[in-house]
Amino acid sequence: MKKKGYMLGICLILLMQTMGCGLGQDNENAVPEFVLTYAENQPEDYPTTKGAYYFAELVNERTCGKVKIRVRANGVLGDEQDIVSQVRFGGIDFARVSLSSIDEIPRLNVLQLPYLYTDADHMWRVLDGDIGNGYMEDFAGSNIIPLSWYDAGARSFYTSKKPITCLQDMAEMRIRVQDNKMMIRMVELLGATPVPLGYAEVYSAFEKGEIDGAENNWPSYESVSHYEVAKLYCVDEHTRVPELQIISQVTWDKMPEEYQKIIKECAVESARYERKLWAEREEKSRQKVIQSGTQVIELSLEEKKEFREAMAPLYEEYCAEYLDVVEDILKEGERE
Ligand code: GCU
Repeated sequence: MKKKGYMLGICLILLMQTMGCGLGQDNENAVPEFVLTYAENQPEDYPTTKGAYYFAELVNERTCGKVKIRVRANGVLGDEQDIVSQVRFGGIDFARVSLSSIDEIPRLNVLQLPYLYTDADHMWRVLDGDIGNGYMEDFAGSNIIPLSWYDAGARSFYTSKKPITCLQDMAEMRIRVQDNKMMIRMVELLGATPVPLGYAEVYSAFEKGEIDGAENNWPSYESVSHYEVAKLYCVDEHTRVPELQIISQVTWDKMPEEYQKIIKECAVESARYERKLWAEREEKSRQKVIQSGTQVIELSLEEKKEFREAMAPLYEEYCAEYLDVVEDILKEGERE
């Protein structure tokens, strides 16, 4: 009897070893080798934040609790551009950031050009394919390691007083943009005055009357309550700015290869999860703001064309050296 029990115990241990420690366990009592910080500037229930928590959970599970990632949401670790600098020198280990906040790698501008993608599917074919993978190399020497692409939908302009119904309406409006040279120039080309500000400052800038408009996707417009202070949303969908999960090179270099591999694979899995959440949240946010009184302005094809033509100089001004990539992206859009 005793022998049988002993054998059973051995079998169980062997089985657990083959299965790995992680399955179905939260490894809460394991002593971590790494406790890492992840910066996220969106609220707790936002798709990218939920993606971050899912990522942290997967990494915890697959490293048997040896790598713990603490997600700090709501922008508590600072403005997105400061976060990027901190990731560079290892003060923060991970972050999810908008591509516009990484201004120093000029080829990234291509992926954020106005009216580049026909729709979300087109953008994902580009990012998930050779072009997107090729971009991972651009980070060499930047001290940032990109892990996976997150979705952030399409950005449109919204205003507090005067609606934007055509290009001329933008004349002299003060529009908040991300602090990115190409985005600042984009607003200038529309005849408006760009006001570069951190994301967290936009709400109060509207309240104080320091800006007349801003631009963002539906979930951001809703979740940080910009719809309360700027009720006129013009669906011009000028850009799709992808987002990235990144890790500091400093942190990466401290890790054994086994953990690096797990981190990369969990990031990619969390991105799939985030994209699914994104699609759901986009529609929910749109419904919510409309119910709360947002006036949605749809542009005709002709009016959209005016926006597109006004912004077109950006292709030459910011991406002249990479027009081959632009062309490949446009070609991908025709292949449907
Ligand atoms: C989006 C994006 C943020 C970014 C913000 C902005 O909401 O998800 O990461 O900070 O745009 O306009 O600054």
